[in-house]
Amino acid sequence: MHHLAIFASGTGSNATKIVDYFKNHQEIKVSLIVSNKTNAPVLEMAKANNIPTLVINRDRFYNTEDILKKIHIYRVDFIVLAGFLLLVPKYLIRNFPNRIVNIHPALLPKYGGKGMYGMNVHKAVKAANEKESGITIHLVNEKYDEGKILFQESCEIIPSDSPEMIAQKVLQLEHQHYSKVIENILTKEAQLKN
Ligand code: GAR
Repeated sequence: MHHLAIFASGTGSNATKIVDYFKNHQEIKVSLIVSNKTNAPVLEMAKANNIPTLVINRDRFYNTEDILKKIHIYRVDFIVLAGFLLLVPKYLIRNFPNRIVNIHPALLPKYGGKGMYGMNVHKAVKAANEKESGITIHLVNEKYDEGKILFQESCEIIPSDSPEMIAQKVLQLEHQHYSKVIENILTKEAQLKN
Protein backbone atom coordinates (compact mmCIF):
# COMPACT_ATOMS: atom_id res chain seq x y z
CA MET A 1 0.00 0.00 0.00
CA HIS A 2 1.25 3.48 -0.87
CA HIS A 3 0.60 6.18 1.69
CA LEU A 4 0.19 9.69 0.33
CA ALA A 5 0.58 12.96 2.18
CA ILE A 6 -1.12 15.90 0.54
CA PHE A 7 0.35 19.33 1.30
CA ALA A 8 -2.10 22.17 0.72
CA SER A 9 -2.27 25.80 1.86
CA GLY A 10 -5.79 26.81 0.98
CA THR A 11 -9.12 25.73 -0.42
CA GLY A 12 -7.99 22.26 -1.25
CA SER A 13 -10.31 21.53 -4.16
CA ASN A 14 -7.57 19.38 -5.71
CA ALA A 15 -6.96 17.68 -2.38
CA THR A 16 -10.68 16.93 -2.14
CA LYS A 17 -10.70 15.34 -5.60
CA ILE A 18 -7.65 13.25 -4.74
CA VAL A 19 -9.18 12.07 -1.45
CA ASP A 20 -12.39 11.09 -3.27
CA TYR A 21 -10.52 9.33 -6.05
CA PHE A 22 -8.46 7.14 -3.73
CA LYS A 23 -11.27 6.24 -1.32
CA ASN A 24 -11.45 2.44 -1.34
CA HIS A 25 -8.43 2.19 -3.67
CA GLN A 26 -6.60 -1.14 -3.40
CA GLU A 27 -3.04 0.25 -3.47
CA ILE A 28 -3.10 3.95 -2.65
CA LYS A 29 -4.33 5.71 0.45
CA VAL A 30 -4.30 9.37 1.49
CA SER A 31 -2.84 9.01 4.98
CA LEU A 32 -2.03 12.57 5.97
CA ILE A 33 -2.95 16.14 5.06
CA VAL A 34 -0.43 18.83 5.87
CA SER A 35 -1.08 22.57 5.83
CA ASN A 36 0.89 25.64 6.81
CA LYS A 37 -2.34 27.52 7.58
CA THR A 38 -4.31 26.72 10.74
CA ASN A 39 -7.59 27.86 9.21
CA ALA A 40 -7.20 26.29 5.76
CA PRO A 41 -10.50 24.77 4.56
CA VAL A 42 -8.53 21.72 3.44
CA LEU A 43 -8.16 20.76 7.12
CA GLU A 44 -11.95 20.63 7.54
CA MET A 45 -12.19 18.38 4.53
CA ALA A 46 -9.54 16.09 6.05
CA LYS A 47 -11.44 15.87 9.32
CA ALA A 48 -14.69 15.12 7.55
CA ASN A 49 -12.89 12.21 5.86
CA ASN A 50 -11.15 10.98 9.03
CA ILE A 51 -7.72 11.73 7.58
CA PRO A 52 -5.04 12.79 10.10
CA THR A 53 -3.85 16.38 9.71
CA LEU A 54 -0.69 18.22 10.52
CA VAL A 55 -0.34 21.99 10.72
CA ILE A 56 3.20 23.13 10.22
CA ASN A 57 4.81 26.25 11.46
CA ARG A 58 6.90 27.97 8.80
CA ASP A 59 9.98 28.47 11.00
CA ARG A 60 9.97 24.89 12.28
CA PHE A 61 9.43 23.63 8.73
CA TYR A 62 12.59 25.35 7.52
CA ASN A 63 14.77 25.21 10.63
CA THR A 64 14.09 21.71 11.95
CA GLU A 65 13.42 18.32 10.40
CA ASP A 66 10.63 17.50 12.87
CA ILE A 67 8.13 16.91 10.13
CA LEU A 68 10.03 13.82 8.94
CA LYS A 69 9.22 11.96 12.15
CA LYS A 70 5.54 12.74 11.81
CA ILE A 71 5.51 11.76 8.16
CA HIS A 72 7.16 8.43 8.98
CA ILE A 73 4.55 7.66 11.63
CA TYR A 74 1.97 7.64 8.86
CA ARG A 75 4.28 5.59 6.61
CA VAL A 76 4.11 8.26 3.89
CA ASP A 77 6.06 7.24 0.79
CA PHE A 78 4.81 9.86 -1.67
CA ILE A 79 4.05 13.57 -1.26
CA VAL A 80 1.53 15.46 -3.35
CA LEU A 81 1.56 19.26 -3.37
CA ALA A 82 -1.86 20.68 -4.17
CA GLY A 83 -1.86 24.44 -3.85
CA PHE A 84 0.99 24.38 -1.34
CA LEU A 85 2.67 27.75 -1.45
CA LEU A 86 5.88 27.27 0.55
CA LEU A 87 9.10 26.20 -1.10
CA VAL A 88 9.82 22.60 -0.11
CA PRO A 89 13.00 22.50 2.01
CA LYS A 90 16.04 20.56 0.83
CA TYR A 91 15.97 17.95 3.61
CA LEU A 92 12.47 16.92 2.58
CA ILE A 93 13.49 16.59 -1.07
CA ARG A 94 16.56 14.55 -0.05
CA ASN A 95 14.36 12.22 2.00
CA PHE A 96 11.81 11.85 -0.80
CA PRO A 97 13.89 11.76 -4.00
CA ASN A 98 11.55 11.76 -7.02
CA ARG A 99 8.72 11.19 -4.55
CA ILE A 100 7.23 14.69 -4.47
CA VAL A 101 4.94 16.02 -7.19
CA ASN A 102 3.41 19.43 -7.71
CA ILE A 103 0.65 20.77 -9.92
CA HIS A 104 1.12 24.17 -11.50
CA PRO A 105 -1.75 26.09 -13.12
CA ALA A 106 0.08 26.96 -16.37
CA LEU A 107 2.15 25.40 -19.10
CA LEU A 108 5.63 25.46 -17.59
CA PRO A 109 8.30 26.66 -18.19
CA LYS A 110 6.09 29.67 -18.88
CA TYR A 111 4.50 31.45 -15.91
CA GLY A 112 6.41 29.62 -13.20
CA GLY A 113 8.73 30.64 -10.40
CA LYS A 114 8.44 32.52 -7.16
CA GLY A 115 5.27 34.59 -6.86
CA MET A 116 3.61 32.76 -9.72
CA TYR A 117 0.70 31.07 -8.03
CA GLY A 118 -3.05 31.13 -8.18
CA MET A 119 -4.59 34.21 -9.82
CA ASN A 120 -1.18 35.83 -10.39
CA VAL A 121 -0.57 33.17 -13.01
CA HIS A 122 -3.90 33.61 -14.78
CA LYS A 123 -3.60 37.41 -14.80
CA ALA A 124 -0.15 37.15 -16.39
CA VAL A 125 -1.45 34.69 -18.99
CA LYS A 126 -4.31 37.07 -19.83
CA ALA A 127 -2.01 40.11 -19.99
CA ALA A 128 0.19 38.28 -22.50
CA ASN A 129 -2.83 37.49 -24.71
CA GLU A 130 -2.01 33.80 -24.71
CA LYS A 131 -4.17 31.59 -26.91
CA GLU A 132 -3.82 28.67 -24.55
CA SER A 133 -2.99 27.81 -20.98
CA GLY A 134 -3.13 24.57 -19.05
CA ILE A 135 -1.64 22.48 -16.29
CA THR A 136 1.76 21.01 -15.54
CA ILE A 137 2.41 18.15 -13.15
CA HIS A 138 6.09 17.91 -12.28
CA LEU A 139 8.59 16.46 -9.84
CA VAL A 140 9.68 18.85 -7.14
CA ASN A 141 13.30 19.90 -6.85
CA GLU A 142 14.99 22.70 -4.96
CA LYS A 143 13.72 25.48 -7.21
CA TYR A 144 10.15 26.62 -7.67
CA ASP A 145 8.51 24.91 -10.66
CA GLU A 146 11.69 23.56 -12.26
CA GLY A 147 11.53 19.81 -11.61
CA LYS A 148 11.08 17.25 -14.37
CA ILE A 149 7.75 17.62 -16.18
CA LEU A 150 5.62 14.48 -16.00
CA PHE A 151 2.37 15.60 -17.60
CA GLN A 152 0.83 18.61 -19.33
CA GLU A 153 -2.61 19.33 -20.73
CA SER A 154 -3.73 22.52 -22.40
CA CYS A 155 -6.96 24.42 -22.82
CA GLU A 156 -7.93 27.11 -25.29
CA ILE A 157 -8.26 30.72 -24.23
CA ILE A 158 -10.57 33.00 -26.16
CA PRO A 159 -10.16 36.79 -26.15
CA SER A 160 -13.27 37.33 -24.01
CA ASP A 161 -11.98 35.04 -21.21
CA SER A 162 -11.24 36.92 -17.99
CA PRO A 163 -8.45 35.73 -15.67
CA GLU A 164 -11.21 34.19 -13.50
CA MET A 165 -12.56 32.27 -16.49
CA ILE A 166 -9.07 31.04 -17.34
CA ALA A 167 -8.70 29.93 -13.71
CA GLN A 168 -11.92 27.94 -14.00
CA LYS A 169 -10.81 26.18 -17.17
CA VAL A 170 -7.42 25.35 -15.69
CA LEU A 171 -8.85 24.13 -12.38
CA GLN A 172 -11.19 21.83 -14.25
CA LEU A 173 -8.19 20.27 -16.02
CA GLU A 174 -6.42 19.87 -12.67
CA HIS A 175 -9.41 18.06 -11.18
CA GLN A 176 -9.70 15.86 -14.23
CA HIS A 177 -6.07 14.73 -14.34
CA TYR A 178 -4.12 15.03 -11.09
CA SER A 179 -5.39 11.89 -9.35
CA LYS A 180 -4.99 9.77 -12.47
CA VAL A 181 -1.43 10.96 -13.03
CA ILE A 182 -0.55 10.11 -9.41
CA GLU A 183 -2.13 6.70 -9.82
CA ASN A 184 -0.19 6.13 -13.04
CA ILE A 185 3.14 7.04 -11.46
CA LEU A 186 2.63 4.69 -8.54
CA THR A 187 1.17 1.77 -10.44
CA LYS A 188 3.74 1.93 -13.28
CA GLU A 189 6.48 1.89 -10.69
CA ALA A 190 5.00 -1.29 -9.20
CA GLN A 191 4.97 -2.90 -12.64
CA LEU A 192 8.63 -2.01 -13.19
CA LYS A 193 9.57 -3.67 -9.92
CA ASN A 194 7.83 -6.96 -10.86
C1 GAR B 1 -4.40 25.25 -8.02
O1 GAR B 1 -4.83 25.89 -9.18
C2 GAR B 1 -2.92 24.93 -8.12
O2 GAR B 1 -2.50 24.63 -9.41
C3 GAR B 1 -2.33 26.23 -7.66
O3 GAR B 1 -3.12 26.64 -6.57
C4 GAR B 1 -4.46 26.19 -6.81
C5 GAR B 1 -4.96 25.50 -5.56
O4 GAR B 1 -6.33 25.24 -5.65
N1 GAR B 1 -0.94 26.05 -7.30
C6 GAR B 1 -0.02 26.97 -7.53
O5 GAR B 1 -0.27 28.04 -8.02
C7 GAR B 1 1.37 26.56 -7.10
N2 GAR B 1 2.36 27.44 -7.67
P1 GAR B 1 -7.02 24.26 -4.63
O6 GAR B 1 -6.59 24.68 -3.23
O7 GAR B 1 -8.50 24.49 -4.82
O8 GAR B 1 -6.60 22.86 -4.96
